[in-house]
Parts: sequence; C-alpha cells; structure tokens
Amino acid sequence: MAVAQKRSPEPASVMDKLVSLAKRRGFFFPSSEIYGGLQGFWDFGPLGVTLRNNIKRAWWRSMVELRDDVVGLDSAIILNPRTWVASGHVQNFTDPLVECKKCHQRFRADQLSGPRHETDGGEFTEARQFNLMFKTFVGPVEDSSAQAYLRPETAQGIFVDFANVLNSTRLRPPFGIAQQGKAFRNEITPGNSIFRLREFEQMELEYFVPPAEEMKWLDYWKEERLKWYVGLGIQPDHLRLRAHGKDELAHYARGAYDVEYEFPFGWSELEGIAARGDYDLAAHQRASGKDLSYFDDIKRERYLPHVVEPSAGVDRTMLTLMIDAYHEEEVRDETRVVLKFHHSVAPIQVAVLPLSRKAPLTDLALRIEHQLRPHFRTEYDDTQSIGKRYRRQDEIGTPYGITVDFETVNDQAVTIRARDDMTQERVPIDRLRHELESRLH
Ligand code: GAP
Repeated sequence: MAVAQKRSPEPASVMDKLVSLAKRRGFFFPSSEIYGGLQGFWDFGPLGVTLRNNIKRAWWRSMVELRDDVVGLDSAIILNPRTWVASGHVQNFTDPLVECKKCHQRFRADQLSGPRHETDGGEFTEARQFNLMFKTFVGPVEDSSAQAYLRPETAQGIFVDFANVLNSTRLRPPFGIAQQGKAFRNEITPGNSIFRLREFEQMELEYFVPPAEEMKWLDYWKEERLKWYVGLGIQPDHLRLRAHGKDELAHYARGAYDVEYEFPFGWSELEGIAARGDYDLAAHQRASGKDLSYFDDIKRERYLPHVVEPSAGVDRTMLTLMIDAYHEEEVRDETRVVLKFHHSVAPIQVAVLPLSRKAPLTDLALRIEHQLRPHFRTEYDDTQSIGKRYRRQDEIGTPYGITVDFETVNDQAVTIRARDDMTQERVPIDRLRHELESRLH
C-alpha cells in the first residue's frame, strides 16, 4: 500500500476546488446555466440529489421516526398571506439595503465591513429596509388583494396547522411537529456557492412545551443537534455551539444558539436553535381569532405552549459535509482528492469495477453489481483505466470499490478496496454482501 501524506489545501482555495469538483462530478452547479444562471439559485445533479436525500432521511429518522413525541407535516409553500402579517414577516423580515452611487450595485448595509466593495467610495445611498419575501399572485388577477408570498421559512406552516395536528393526534406537550421543505428569501447578497441561497431547503422542528420547561428543552435540543452533526461524520473540532448575545436575540426570544461550522470563509451558522416563547402561537391566535391553546386535563389548566425550534438547512449541511470530507493526499507524486464521507451519507457506497472491459469480467461484474444493488447504493463502471476509475470514486466519496479481475473467474473471489486507507482485501463472492454489510450498516 502506498503511503499517503496529508496536505491541507489553503482555506480560500478549498471553496474553488469544491465548487469545481461539485460541477465536474455532478453534485451541484448554477441553475439554468446555459442562460447564464441566476444568482442565488443552484441545481443539484445526480450525486447531489442523492446526498441531499441521505441528509433529509437521516434528519427525519432521528427527529421523527425514532421518537415517540414528534410527528411530521408537509404544509403548502404559499399560505394565506395573513400568516405573514401575523408572524411579523411583512413588517420586519427585512435587511438594510444600500446602493453604491458610482456603480449602482446593491449591498447589505450590515455586511459592508466584510468583503469590501471594489470602489474606494463609501459613497452609498441611505439604507432602506428591504423585505426579503418573494411576492407572487394567486389567481388570474394581479392586484394587491391577490398578492401572496413564497414562504421564507417552513416554521409558520407548522404554527398555523398547530390546532389541526393537535386535534388529530393524541399528543400532549412536550411534543414536536417536524417539517422539511423549500423556503425562499430574496437575499441581497447570496453567495459562497450554496451557503446563502435565494431558494433553499429547511429541516425544522417546532417543539411545544409547558412554559416552565422552555429553557430545559433549549438545553436539550442544542446538545441533540450538535450530536446529530457529529453522527454524520463531521469532525467535532470543526463544530461549536455559540450562544446569541442579548443584542442579537429577537425581542420575543428567551435564548438562542447557533450550531456553527468552521467554513473556509470563517465560523458561520449551520443551524439556529431558539426558544421562541409563545410568540408565534399568540400572534396567530390574535390575528385569526382561533383558540390555539392547549388544555391539560390532568392539571386542569389551559395555556399556550412555548416553543423551542431547531432549524437546519439542507444546503448548508450538504456544503458542510462536502467541505469536511474534502482531503488532498500525496500518493506516489500524485495528488489524490478524496471525499471521506461517512458511509451513511455517501451517494454511492459500493462501486463495482471490472479490471478490463473483456466479456467474462464485465458479465460477472454486472451480475455482482445487480446482486448488491438492493442492499447498498451501488454503481457499475467499466470505462477508462482502473486507476482513473478509482480516482473518480475517491472524488465522489465512495467508501468501497469491488474489483473483478481475471482471477475472479477461477477463484470466485473479488478485491474490496477501501477508500480511506486504500487497503485491499480478497473476499469470496458468496461472502461479499455479508462483508459489506458489516462495514456499511
Ligand atoms: N424558522 C427559523 C429560521 O428560519 P433562520 O436562522 O433564518 O431561522 C434557519 O434559518 C436555517 O435555515 C439556517 O441555519 C440555514 O441553515 C438555513 N438558511 C436560512 N437562510 C438561508 C439561505 N439564504 N440559504 C441557505 N440556507 C439558509
């Protein structure tokens, strides 16, 4: 086995390399690129969509299926626009916008101290509040009475459905409602590839608790959520919990933490976990005139549950997994690029590779791949040289390669090549599934 020397690429170049790898291998690329793309919108290719599905499945499994106190929901993207008045989004979901008087580019006033604008100027217009919600019209008449919004978060769908879920289940606080789905924000400065998007996907839990238990559950969820990321294989020292300072907290919030990741562009938010009090339920109860309280028939008391909300992003989790998995190693004077994905999220888990494109090998390899396919995420590849095929599998993060060679025809055995240490082990075909199960499940 060749000795691999680890090499850490410069942080700034990691993003460029990753974005190029993502496009070359089919993880993500600019949306509608043949027309020049659209800023803040990205499409996910064959490997990207699989990685996202693996992330969403892992979240749903841990947040809904493995718990007896959380149920799922799938609410509409466009809600009655009164929802967004009541929630405060129409009034307050804004960023301060300024325009450069020279080139007329627009910026977020609170981000001007970050990456500087090219001109020496500082010649900006007065800041004005810019609402981030995308507007659309429902029905054939485009007047203000038909105006609606694309949801800027999935959370409000959960709050407006609170009574319907409560009345159709046997849940009592503490309990949660979980939702995954697209959200839209007309961000002034989208960027860092898929870190800040205008169309993105959230995974949110609203956890409803008796008021006195709110801080206890905030503590609980911040630890749970940190553990979840570690379980996906992210290196623990690249993650941290950061408590919001008093000046950062929304006026209704009792406390909040961000799960942060050390991105190449600095520590940034991966997920927000907030204690929201009864702000949302109270606001919707007031605006709709519908009772959203819960009656505890044991204690004989009625109250509005308080909410603890862990709110994660699929796109940021995907970017984090890819950055964290990205490694460059020197092997025999060549640079090996390898995504060391945890096997639970790797888009392809097993690649079956016949050593040559000759008939007995390809037939046998195809048969093996078909046998493994129901049990693992597999791929068959007989193009190019074996070296190039290993390199491709390393770059897309496939944990195991199965090489079918000329000996296989005689000894009915194949070689398992491990991605991380490149060790190879000869295994009889009839033990292959079992062997892979013990490594991958
Ligand atoms: N309901 C609370 C809420 O939406 P947030 O902090 O605005 O809170 C939660 O968003 C998570 O959604 C973020 O931590 C991030 O993962 C993701 N997210 C928010 N805005 C995003 C954007 N423009 N692009 C990509 N992901 C975004």
